[in-house]
Amino acid sequence: MTHANVPAVRGGTAVRDIEARPWPKWPIFDETEEKALLEVLHSGNWWSVEGTQGKEFEKEFAAYQDAKYGVNCTNGTAALEIALRAIGVGCGDEVIVPPYTFIATASAVLAVSATPVFVDIQGDTLNIDPTLIEAAITPRTKAIILVHMAGRPADMDAIPAIAKKHGLKLIEDAAQAQGAEWRGTKVGAIGDLGTFSFQASKNLNSGEGGIIVSNNEAIAEAAWSVANVGRSRSGRWYEHVVLGSNYRLTEFQSAILRAQMKRLPAQTDLRTDNAAYLRSLLKDVDSIQLPSEDDRITIHANHLFTFRYKPDRFGGLNHSDFVAALMAEGVPCSTGYVPLYKERVFDKFSRRDGTWCQNGNRIKYAELVLPECEAVCLETTWIPQTCLLGTHSDMEDIAAAITKLAVGL
Ligand SMILES: Cc1ncc(COP(=O)(O)O)c(C=O)c1O
Repeated sequence: MTHANVPAVRGGTAVRDIEARPWPKWPIFDETEEKALLEVLHSGNWWSVEGTQGKEFEKEFAAYQDAKYGVNCTNGTAALEIALRAIGVGCGDEVIVPPYTFIATASAVLAVSATPVFVDIQGDTLNIDPTLIEAAITPRTKAIILVHMAGRPADMDAIPAIAKKHGLKLIEDAAQAQGAEWRGTKVGAIGDLGTFSFQASKNLNSGEGGIIVSNNEAIAEAAWSVANVGRSRSGRWYEHVVLGSNYRLTEFQSAILRAQMKRLPAQTDLRTDNAAYLRSLLKDVDSIQLPSEDDRITIHANHLFTFRYKPDRFGGLNHSDFVAALMAEGVPCSTGYVPLYKERVFDKFSRRDGTWCQNGNRIKYAELVLPECEAVCLETTWIPQTCLLGTHSDMEDIAAAITKLAVGL
């Protein structure tokens, strides 16, 4: 083996010297964002109730996602809680969620005193498996939350059909899916309502931020009330008709979001092009498995580029050591989620008397085993969206690093 073929974790030369050739910086901004922030500053109008930035952003983002209505809020976690309250989910209700997602998808259900019921994912899409949903529905089921994981739309033919058949509300957790599209329609408002995050790592970023989108005016108004301390738009200032909280964004965040939104379509195209090129470089590498392709997905938001490694093809390396070896080659990556039901918070809740039960029976979260999710967690590696804002030559480095490890370990 030449020195270049020796894995960097074993003392060889890394595929990429990240000091000499750093990955694209994130966030991307220039004087447009500076000007937008200064305009808000000098206007003295920093508050969304009186300013125009937040209201304009709600309209612009909702339109971009093919939705009629948008309601800004502080973050994607709050957006999920607001969404659940807006559709009336509460104590004793059950909500179906996938286990391969950020904690908020399921903790939002606990936050409104309802029960998260985990349904396994598909190993080749990382999204909730529609064929397993119906078996989890009980008379207490009120809603399904799907996640467009990594920016890949979940099955928006099968899942809305199941929701409709059983009279359930469908929430799309689109935190990772700005710009994603299913059969020519952007995600978010294909179901009853959808939620987005604008946290720093997301494809559209204001440090923190979120929005709820919907095509249903009554749902959007209910979400607005929850996000605005329970007021109604037509009511008096000190009149609070539902339980809500103050979930408003500042005008500074909305101004940043409006400026960043102008960059989003071109950035989405660039990620699409680079992800397709990287796929083409990796498609015959049999030591890894790429997610399956689906013609119904007309835009994948590529928040993450994911693949599964086959441990036996990398010298039996465990997941975290595999990721460390890839990082040592100069490729930013991570091991991603653990099965959500294993987080201690769920176990704590399921041991309490009361409402955290499925169809009257307490769920023993700590004893759950959802096999696809467990396998995916052990093998799936995430490469962040920022890498996909680079060049084809950058993609060649990622492919070279993976193939080098398959040979060298
Ligand atoms: C799938 C998913 N849902 C919800 C959230 C919560 O968003 P936030 O971090 O803005 O609260 C995130 C963000 O990490 C996410 O990835």
